[in-house]
Amino acid sequence: MDYPEYLRKVPKVELHCHFEGTVRAATFADLARKHEVALPTDEVARLYDYDTIYEFLKIFGMVSSTLIDRADFARCAYESLEDGVRLGNLRYREMFFNPTLHTRRGIPMATVIDGLVDGIRAAETDFGVRCKLIADVYRQDAPELARQMVEEVLANRVDELIGLGMDGAEAPDPPEKFVEAYRAAKAGGLRLTSHASEDAPPVNITTCLDVLGCERIDHGYHILADTAVLNRCKDEGIYFTCCPTSTAVVYGWPDLTAHPIKDMVAAGLNVMLNSDDPTMFHTDLGREYVELCTALGYDQSTVRTLVLNGVDATWLDDTDKASLRTEFTGELDALDAALTGTDR
Ligand code: ADE
Ligand code: ZN
Repeated sequence: MDYPEYLRKVPKVELHCHFEGTVRAATFADLARKHEVALPTDEVARLYDYDTIYEFLKIFGMVSSTLIDRADFARCAYESLEDGVRLGNLRYREMFFNPTLHTRRGIPMATVIDGLVDGIRAAETDFGVRCKLIADVYRQDAPELARQMVEEVLANRVDELIGLGMDGAEAPDPPEKFVEAYRAAKAGGLRLTSHASEDAPPVNITTCLDVLGCERIDHGYHILADTAVLNRCKDEGIYFTCCPTSTAVVYGWPDLTAHPIKDMVAAGLNVMLNSDDPTMFHTDLGREYVELCTALGYDQSTVRTLVLNGVDATWLDDTDKASLRTEFTGELDALDAALTGTDR
């Protein structure tokens, strides 16, 4: 076993992955045909080509517009988890979805949630992978629409639905815009997270923690620009869900050695790795580990820290978390033993 194979095989948790960003290009083309949605190109291999977050979000919306029936959501959720298992030994995911990208097109919230849950349960039966759901506020929406979305999510709540998050373009729409939506989610018993300081200053991290009540931070790449925010997050043990490839592409970091994740890990923050929008950025969870850990020269002990940070950052209950930790530790020990003496 070589090191890339080892990195693909380590058991993984994923906490920053957008359902709509996991739709296979071939499935996108298939659903577009089924529902007669016009595509920008006939070449499946070129459907997911873009250079900026804004171009990306446009295609993200177009993918969403091909998801119409409950079966469409179920198929894509199932395929998404199948890909995570096959390409990265995914064992547990807390997955984002954007309700308003669907409900604004007249798709009932129940169709979205029930379809996702059908796919999640079928994937658990077939592959043993578990998955929960986080409904994301879309930053470009009006605050009132986001608050209504939360009420509707709570009215259609299932066991799988455990949290509220927030995504979309960060710079034009700061987190405080959505304080009411977050308040309603907390009152309804949802766990809270948000994309923050992906493409904006570290003050957005402070706002997410103190004003919105977030428990984790998704991305956080500009945190090193503010020592007080950095030290606070270290002291409080805040977990950061980081995504190497997707952000290197849209923010122009030329290769992964220039990605701020390197400095975040070196500064002692609790970082864990994710694929964000894997199919849309031509990556997968296994590849994220392979590319980042080989680019930065991370050894097995750093990989173990990244993996177990993922477990500790989940919103599983303490018993479940402890047993996942034990399971992962045993598998990491066996993989480490198998790697010893082989060529890195
Ligand atoms: N929507 C899907 N992926 C996203 C990301 N990484 N940042 C902002 N919005 C997103
Ligand atoms: Zn994201």
